[in-house]
Amino acid sequence: MVRLDGRFLNSFVSEDEIKAFEPKLKEAHGKIKNKTGEGGDFLGWYTLPYDYDKDEFERIKKAAEKIKKSCQVFVVIGIGGSYLGARAAIEFIKSPNYNLLSKDTPNIYFAGNSISASSLSDVLELCKGKDVCVNVISKSGTTTEPAIAFRVFKELLEEKYGKEGARERIFVTTDKSRGALKGLAGKEGYETFVIPDDIGGRYSVLTPCGLLPIAVAGIDIDKIMAGAKLAAEKFSVCDIDKNDAYRYAVIRNVLYSKGKKSEFLACYEPSFRYMTEWWKQLFGESEGKDQKGIFPSAVIYSTDLHSLGQIVQQGERTIFETVIDIKNAGAPFVIPFDKENADGLNFLAGKDLAEANRKAFLATVLAHSDGNVPNIIIEADSNKEDCYGFMVYFFELACAASGYILGVNPFNQPGVEAYKKNMFALLGKPGEENERKKAELEARLS
Ligand code: PA5
Repeated sequence: MVRLDGRFLNSFVSEDEIKAFEPKLKEAHGKIKNKTGEGGDFLGWYTLPYDYDKDEFERIKKAAEKIKKSCQVFVVIGIGGSYLGARAAIEFIKSPNYNLLSKDTPNIYFAGNSISASSLSDVLELCKGKDVCVNVISKSGTTTEPAIAFRVFKELLEEKYGKEGARERIFVTTDKSRGALKGLAGKEGYETFVIPDDIGGRYSVLTPCGLLPIAVAGIDIDKIMAGAKLAAEKFSVCDIDKNDAYRYAVIRNVLYSKGKKSEFLACYEPSFRYMTEWWKQLFGESEGKDQKGIFPSAVIYSTDLHSLGQIVQQGERTIFETVIDIKNAGAPFVIPFDKENADGLNFLAGKDLAEANRKAFLATVLAHSDGNVPNIIIEADSNKEDCYGFMVYFFELACAASGYILGVNPFNQPGVEAYKKNMFALLGKPGEENERKKAELEARLS
């Protein structure tokens, strides 16, 4: 369903270099399987495709049906791991134009993923005159961006439907016992879904965190979980020749050790854009610590060949690319014949656009390889549900293994706190420490 093609890597990474990482991979595998490494408490996603809560899964499907029937607009409030995976699924499996296409499911808008006033106002505007349901998602239940947005939407719904009516339209996805959001949900009586304790935000898309919005979009979440399960079965072995997720993890580390410090995740389908956003968070937060880590970047080709193609081809030689090659990504689209042929394109007439896209892909892989940019190819059979689930698991496992091989804890994100501490101090959050920090920061800013 998803496999690695190393054809274009041969001149950059030898089989001996890959094999040299085997002991480290073995160690990483042990840490993942036995939960013995740093962050071992956050490995719930590893067995999730087998042991997810089936009752809650049914409740998600029921809630999704209720939401579909009771609104035209579904607002999903969350940031980072609490929204990227769901958005990625909707755009990849349905379309980036999901909201504009005719369908029998609600429009889905995302809020609380920034502190931008204009962005929040836009979503409010889109809700005008429409029936609205809201899903607020926060594992910690304390994140500022979604908390602000939820305050606004709670008020909107209560004004529009009354407290009782709003209660029927607000769905909360959070920790089972901790956080302000959990407290609020209990107090108000909102239907609540649980992000398991042992699954961190960026590994949580296959929990209710991602599954409820995905199901509301009319996507079959049973098939997603089936795809993830297939991946969990396939990638359970610690064999570099049989486990492509582990092979990918090792190849990244070989390249990193040879000075390739930036990875560009590339795809020739614009519908993959949010998958790349999800992937960036997954790898960036998991590996970028202790002054180490490959910088994760992303491109959609051929679009970005007209902006970033130059630097990839001839800039500093610190980049490698991982290209997602999606087979069967859309319906056939034949390039028309034009009898004038003023644009000289009749040599393409009758060919499918997918064929032209494939040639662009092959041409670029060869050009970038010539430019000393190693290309890892990951083939995906389709953009269907099972393939999405499979791919999510593939990258989660690869990321955990890659992080352990690199020597970091792939499940924490201590660096994210630095901006938060400064922001709270500058915003005047009460507390002695905040006041002291505020004075210090203001002095630096003046
Ligand atoms: O991976 C993580 O844990 C984080 O990036 C979170 O996803 C993000 O900060 C949102 O956190 P929360 O779900 O607690 O609001």
